[in-house]
Amino acid sequence: MSAVMHVPGSGFDASWLDLREPADHFSRCEDLARAVSRHLGRRHSISVLDLGCGTGSNLRATAPLLGPVQQWTLVDHDEALLAAATERLSGWAASAERDSRGLILHKDGKRISVRFARADLADDLEAVLEIGADLYTASALFDLASDDVIATVAASVARHRAAFFTTLTYNGAQRWTPKHEADAAMAMAFRSHQGRDKGFGAAAGPIAPTLIAAAFDEAGYRVSEGDSGWRLDAADMPLIDTLATGFAAAVRETGLVPEATVDDWLKVRRTGALVGHTDILALPG
Ligand SMILES: C[S@@+](CC[C@H](N)C(=O)[O-])C[C@H]1O[C@@H](n2cnc3c(N)ncnc32)[C@H](O)[C@@H]1O
Repeated sequence: MSAVMHVPGSGFDASWLDLREPADHFSRCEDLARAVSRHLGRRHSISVLDLGCGTGSNLRATAPLLGPVQQWTLVDHDEALLAAATERLSGWAASAERDSRGLILHKDGKRISVRFARADLADDLEAVLEIGADLYTASALFDLASDDVIATVAASVARHRAAFFTTLTYNGAQRWTPKHEADAAMAMAFRSHQGRDKGFGAAAGPIAPTLIAAAFDEAGYRVSEGDSGWRLDAADMPLIDTLATGFAAAVRETGLVPEATVDDWLKVRRTGALVGHTDILALPG
């Protein structure tokens, strides 16, 4: 749900990514983060390719797990998000210099060089993957992608004998508090919306984590999965409200639930929400 929980068809705007970032970082699976640190954090230098980077949230959460010298390539098709990433990352770092190719950041004893690549992963996936990296990563992306995209990414990562770490992939679990009698019908309609084309062909939606794990398993990788579900409460009201509005808009687009029911569902003041996500780390066997 998280990747598509915005006004459907409108792209991802930086304000939505800003709103969700604290919940995203808080919800990441700690065991997997520790495993990333254990397996990859001892390398003095590491290159990282971040697919669908948005404003750079994944770098802000993952860079602290890695070694002192990092070279990141951030890929997105949205120029405005890449510009926002430059700004957000410069503000996040202790110091930031622009050079001809991107940014050099210093933060907590680490030197992080960042290159930005504007590319449409639907059209240019192979070329982007051939940039190559020690670690391929993405956050809140793969439920938007098709099973073919997932298979292509896994095959490329395996060809490079690289590591793979993806966080916050929607897995289909959801619960609202308080409950509403239309929750089940709304969830079913939302699920059908999830399978719609999000730019990559029919989307994997909530089966994305299963497809990713199977693809890397087949490639002989050691695959670990962890829970990164959002467990939102009254302290997260702006996020819950935006989530509920986006969820209802997606349901409306399907036409599977009567308008009046969606209107009634939206009237409830929600004080809690669970949105299931899965993190996956895959390491060469
Ligand atoms: C849910 S957002 C996640 C952004 C970021 N990884 C994060 O965790 O905040 C999905 C991102 O994928 C990007 N994206 C979606 N389709 C894409 C495509 N075909 N090519 C490149 N980027 C794409 C969007 O622009 C957006 O930045």
